[in-house]
Amino acid sequence: MEPFDRTRPNIARVWDYWLGGKDNFAADRELAEKMLTVHPVSAQMARENRQFLGRAVSYVAARGVRQFIDVGAGLPTALNTHDIARGIDPQARVAYVDNDRCKSGCVHARKRPIPVSFPVRMASSTLAWTRWAASM
Ligand SMILES: C[S@@+](CC[C@H](N)C(=O)[O-])C[C@H]1O[C@@H](n2cnc3c(N)ncnc32)[C@H](O)[C@@H]1O
Repeated sequence: MEPFDRTRPNIARVWDYWLGGKDNFAADRELAEKMLTVHPVSAQMARENRQFLGRAVSYVAARGVRQFIDVGAGLPTALNTHDIARGIDPQARVAYVDNDRCKSGCVHARKRPIPVSFPVRMASSTLAWTRWAASM
C-alpha cells in the first residue's frame, strides 16, 4: 500500500480534481492539468464514468440487488454508490474497497457516514479477495 504523501500526485486525487472535488492537493492538480494537455477528454471521461456508475447501480438496485462491493472506489464524492443504492432501498449495503490508504484516511477525516471503507489490495490475489468478499 502506498504511503500517504500530499507532495506526490495520486491518481484518485487527480480523478477527484477532474470531478470537481475538494480532496486534492497542488501536486494532484498540476498533474491533472498536464494530463489534460495530452488527453483533453480525461476530465469528461471521469464525469461520464461516474454517470455510468450511477446508471449501473440504479439498474441492478431496481432489480433487487441490495449488497454492493465497489472495487477501486476512489474518494467520496457526490452520488457515491451507497447514495444511489440507498435512493432505491435505504437498507442497501456497500463495501468500499481501494488499495490506496488515502481513501480510508480521507473518509475518516471527514467523518462522513460511509458504511464501510477497507484499504484492500486487489491485484495481488483475486482468490484472497474472493474469500474476503464471501466472508462478509
Ligand atoms: C480512476 S479512480 C476511479 C474512482 C471511482 N470508481 C469513480 O468511478 O469515480 C480508480 C481507483 O481505483 C483504485 N485502484 C487501482 N488499482 C486498485 C487495486 N488493485 N485494488 C483496489 N483499488 C485499486 C485507485 O486507488 C483509485 O482510487
